[in-house]
Amino acid sequence: MCGIIGYAGEQRALPILRTGLENLEYRGYDSVGVALGGDDGLRLFKQAGRIADLALPADDDATVGVGHTRWSTHGKPTDANAHPHTDCTGDVAVVHNGIIENYDSLREELGDHAFTSETDTEVVPHLVETFRDAGHDLPEAVARTLDRLEGTFALGVVAADFDGIVAARRDNPLVVGHGETGNFIASDVTAFLEHTREVTYVEDGDVAVLSEGGVEITNDGRAVDRPRERVEWEAEAAEKSGYDHYMLKEIHEQPTALRQTLSGRIDELNGEAEIEIDLPKEYLNSLDEVTFIACGTSYHAGLYAAQLVESLADVRASAEVASEYEFDGGRDPWRTLVVPVTQSGETADTLSALRRAKRAGARSLAVTNTLGSTVTREADDTVFIRAGPEIGVAATKTFVSQVATLALLTVSVARARGTMSTTEAIEFLSNVRQLPGAVQRVLDAEAAVRDAAETYADGGAFFFIGRKLGYPVALEGALKLKEIAYVHAEGFAAGELKHGPLALVTSDSPVLAVLSQGANAHATLNNVKEVESRGAPVLGCTSVADAEKFLDRSFEVPELGALSPLVANVCFQLFAYHVAKLKGRSIDKPRNLAKSVTVE
Ligand code: M6R
Repeated sequence: MCGIIGYAGEQRALPILRTGLENLEYRGYDSVGVALGGDDGLRLFKQAGRIADLALPADDDATVGVGHTRWSTHGKPTDANAHPHTDCTGDVAVVHNGIIENYDSLREELGDHAFTSETDTEVVPHLVETFRDAGHDLPEAVARTLDRLEGTFALGVVAADFDGIVAARRDNPLVVGHGETGNFIASDVTAFLEHTREVTYVEDGDVAVLSEGGVEITNDGRAVDRPRERVEWEAEAAEKSGYDHYMLKEIHEQPTALRQTLSGRIDELNGEAEIEIDLPKEYLNSLDEVTFIACGTSYHAGLYAAQLVESLADVRASAEVASEYEFDGGRDPWRTLVVPVTQSGETADTLSALRRAKRAGARSLAVTNTLGSTVTREADDTVFIRAGPEIGVAATKTFVSQVATLALLTVSVARARGTMSTTEAIEFLSNVRQLPGAVQRVLDAEAAVRDAAETYADGGAFFFIGRKLGYPVALEGALKLKEIAYVHAEGFAAGELKHGPLALVTSDSPVLAVLSQGANAHATLNNVKEVESRGAPVLGCTSVADAEKFLDRSFEVPELGALSPLVANVCFQLFAYHVAKLKGRSIDKPRNLAKSVTVE
């Protein structure tokens, strides 16, 4: 997740910005930059890479400036794409978190402006420039610019002739700090905690003007009085936004991650998914098959997607564990689309599977969270899931963003192949669009899942069952529990229980079932009865009426058709988290595991 820090006051800004950026490092980043204001004009320092390597002057008199850590979403991690971005004159500099959805059309409209990066952000300083040229001061020019932006943002803007910072937000966090010798803006309080604990949380639509003298906030042109609060957290807790673990923070970030994933990619009116890939219609029509190659959680995302592709795009599809994958070529290898799914983009097993497929002549399309990663350089095409950095070793928000991205890919393929009508696509995309809200509803009911974890945490083994799209979710639920709680957990296709695993089921083995739409819930209820008659307690995530009467605990999942099982997975994440916490496990760094597995 990108990070913003800004300072306007009587102290030198540079050291404050430098430590602010270091404090934001935990959020993950690939590029960094600083703009310093003052009488000599703006001074800009930015580059791809680490803060420690950023060539900053030893000293600088500026008392106003903004800094940024960038996690790439539009445009690769290069020096040119690093923030701050400037207008044509170099007199206005902008740092930005979020996504400007209409940047393409704005860029076109700003045709005579000189753009120097591939970012969506760069339209902002150029728009500010046009309003300044029309005679508006910086705060007014920023306010008018905001009216032109679609998407999400937290912004910090400085200008050569303005002794302060103009900041604004829409659906992206931004906090103001009130210090004794000046004022701050940041993406989160960790950035300036050593200077002040007095903060104001900026609200959607607010424009804040910070200067040495104070902070003025307006909304829709009218002054507003936002409360000041005192932050009592220590820096470490603040990095986790008050959550005990990154994993829990990332579970709760899923609605935001999903909004970023989906931003600008759904044309619900026409039933089209607009993901930025160039797969010609003729190619998609000639496809023999789609193969997802991946490991761990990403493999489960691939299993989910394979079912979507087969059912909606009418082409043979499968998911293969990357370390086991061999490509046999077939009649015309190019007509197999191989899709490596990898959060990190660096997993050795996935990369070598991709290389085997490429050597055999297959076409490839990577799905990843990480711009500039190896998989993006080696695959023929790439689509990004835009979930933001994930710090906990256990994959949570990246799973939901992977599946959401793959769902959009499926629509795109299905529409090109003519296997999905406009009406069907509109209905499916409407469910996709509702994912963030549905996930939020499950998160709001966390207390019930925590309570169930408290009751059943001592189970000897845990079995997760599901059918259809519930099956990959059952596998993922079990993986999460074993990975962070170190307990025996297995995921089964519910119908397979009676073919062996039922022998393991006792009153000491809670069973967790996916009983939602998209998971053939009624058939799974029969399996629920099978395990109940062996004394096992059953916990179910359900969107099916009356299912709860068969369950010891039931967690409601909103009805979202084929996407309901994905939402059910959030219950399993929370269950795993709370069991692991009760057992005192090292949740963010489970034993023997690494976030990115770069050896085969
Ligand atoms: O970075 P990748 O998505 O390629 O990683 C694949 C697996 O190592 C990863 O999903 C792993 O299974 C997770 N830590 C599970 O939570």
